[in-house]
Amino acid sequence: MKQEGNPILSLTAYDYPTARLVDEAGFHVILVGDSMANVVLGHASTLKISLDQIISATRSVKRAVDRPLVVSDMPYGSYHLGKKETILNALRLVREGGAQAVKLEGGSKRAPLVESLVDADIPVMGHIGLLPQAVHPRGGYKVRGRTSSEAKSLLEDALALESAGAFALVLEGVPASVADRITSRVRIPTIGIGAGAKCDGQILVFHDVVGLSLGPTPKFARKYADLAGEIRESLTRFAQDIRSKDFPATEEMYEDGELPKDWDASTKNPERALDLDR
Ligand code: KIV
Repeated sequence: MKQEGNPILSLTAYDYPTARLVDEAGFHVILVGDSMANVVLGHASTLKISLDQIISATRSVKRAVDRPLVVSDMPYGSYHLGKKETILNALRLVREGGAQAVKLEGGSKRAPLVESLVDADIPVMGHIGLLPQAVHPRGGYKVRGRTSSEAKSLLEDALALESAGAFALVLEGVPASVADRITSRVRIPTIGIGAGAKCDGQILVFHDVVGLSLGPTPKFARKYADLAGEIRESLTRFAQDIRSKDFPATEEMYEDGELPKDWDASTKNPERALDLDR
């Protein structure tokens, strides 16, 4: 697709219904991202999500689709304790979750890990630029690559991950010109998020795209619908219908068949039973 200039359509999904809809819309890649921590679980950062939570979400996504490539994020802490633990955790994503590939954040310093995972037959998507899991050491969520030394080290990161065997690279929060240069220097596809129009594919967070993120969204997250508004409106109407007894209507009730009028006659009347007890 990279060679043909055919954009790689990627989106996150974390559950069965959204994954089905993403598949129906023809997306090529579904990322079970750790952004689930923010948009589904309500955490302020991605650091709180566990491997078990990503595995469980991956299972739901895999039950929904078989066409798109399903990539699962390795959460914070799942690849920080050495190669053996990293491989064991990635294997859980593949074997228990059904992921076809894993994604982990970081550049050159993660290259040896990427190599070990690829050696264990686990395809790896790299992720460089703005790294949400590095929010503390980097002092916030900052665009990366605005200075020439940062841009140069991003390119080195990309080349190192490619040499280590990564099959694709997410470029997040990177100036468009830098993402463009990286995209033309690596043979593997780049998938951009806040990285301009020249990447080989684009990815956004599902909830941002459909207007279901309840917090602030980054400027690159184009919103195509206002699902939060739609849901609010429909729930207000439902609550109103319950209050006014307009719900349920006759056609929303079960009929009683041919019950005799005195079908409850043989049950004890609790008040009478009390009387008798006295
Ligand atoms: O978790 C996620 O949604 C991601 C994308 C931002 C690429 O890593």
